[in-house]
Amino acid sequence: MSDTGLRVCVTHSIKGIEARKSFNPFFIPPFTDHLPISHTMNELDTLVESARQSFAQALTPADLENAKALFLGKAGRITELMKGMAALSVEDKKTRGAAINIAKQAIEAALNDHRQALADAELQAQLKAEALDVTLPGRSANLGGLHPVSLTLERVEQIFGSMGFEVAQGPEIETDWFNFTALNTPEDHPARSMHDTFYVEGGHLLRTHTSPMQIRHAVQHVKRYKNQLDAGQGMPEIRVIAPGRTYRVDSDATHSPMFHQCEGLWIGENVSFKDLKVVVTDFCRTFFESDDLVLRFRPSFFPFTEPSAEIDIQFQSGPLAGRWLEVGGSGQVHPNVVRNMGLDPERFIGFAFGMGMDRFTMLRYGVNDLRLFFDGDVRFLSQFQ
Ligand code: PHE
Repeated sequence: MSDTGLRVCVTHSIKGIEARKSFNPFFIPPFTDHLPISHTMNELDTLVESARQSFAQALTPADLENAKALFLGKAGRITELMKGMAALSVEDKKTRGAAINIAKQAIEAALNDHRQALADAELQAQLKAEALDVTLPGRSANLGGLHPVSLTLERVEQIFGSMGFEVAQGPEIETDWFNFTALNTPEDHPARSMHDTFYVEGGHLLRTHTSPMQIRHAVQHVKRYKNQLDAGQGMPEIRVIAPGRTYRVDSDATHSPMFHQCEGLWIGENVSFKDLKVVVTDFCRTFFESDDLVLRFRPSFFPFTEPSAEIDIQFQSGPLAGRWLEVGGSGQVHPNVVRNMGLDPERFIGFAFGMGMDRFTMLRYGVNDLRLFFDGDVRFLSQFQ
């Protein structure tokens, strides 16, 4: 920016301000005592007043320009008054001219004021017409939630945790050894059938239950306390649950090729079937928040437990009251399985159980079709948040 330019600009604007500041509508010009002052001033005051009124009545810029022409135009009243000064003396011309000029400035100021008022009104009208209602509530972001089966697993871990059970996790792709052989399941057992099991490359399979975790966890535990055991001392009891996904070739309203189980294992030197009943009964009553829930251990068969029992529950109230519902399998761990854990079955004894977590979830929330859990429909899933 050039220095000169700036100074010129400032000077102009200061001059402008001073000119405006020095304007006073009530100013009475000096040296007018030889004129009929009151008459002259009244006439000019009236003119200014009538200009103000005309401007005030103008509702559009066009109206205002028409009104302006009447007072400030070539044939307007101010021009007329100026022309009327021709006959006056030089001295009177000065006085009269100054007075007319002041009137002219007052009219111009009134014109500008009204111009601004019209522009403001137009802007306001436009803002009103184009107004956006920003007070509407915004769309909130949808937060996800835990899947109902995950909610069940969390609850199961919490309840068993309070009874002193650890939580273990293991692979979903298993070896034949952990899934069948170590669990005393003979080669010709129907669970090994191609119709029941998903086999994958390399002789592996998708685990058909969480029971392989009995072996995996017990072997680790025994390894950890090997020195103590070798020295003929005891070891801390094995008390563990292993929740997770399991797979079978099955699909209908109550079976899904992928489902969830929770395994339980308690091994010690003095653990009995009575302990199994107490633990499972306490767990089910806590899970379903029902103190009068009745449990039945119905004799059954599993290759890895002896004796074995199905776990049935019966609600005493609610829509399912009085019906026996199967929720899992259980039993005293078979001596061959105890041996495969690396323990002496003459010394160590215990029980195991496996419960269907999808079933527990369906019963707790009153869901009657298992497939709803795996359709991924948010209308269903959002009900569990
Ligand atoms: N694994 C058995 C099943 O899937 C359940 C079970 C677990 C039974 C532990 C006895 C002991 O049906």
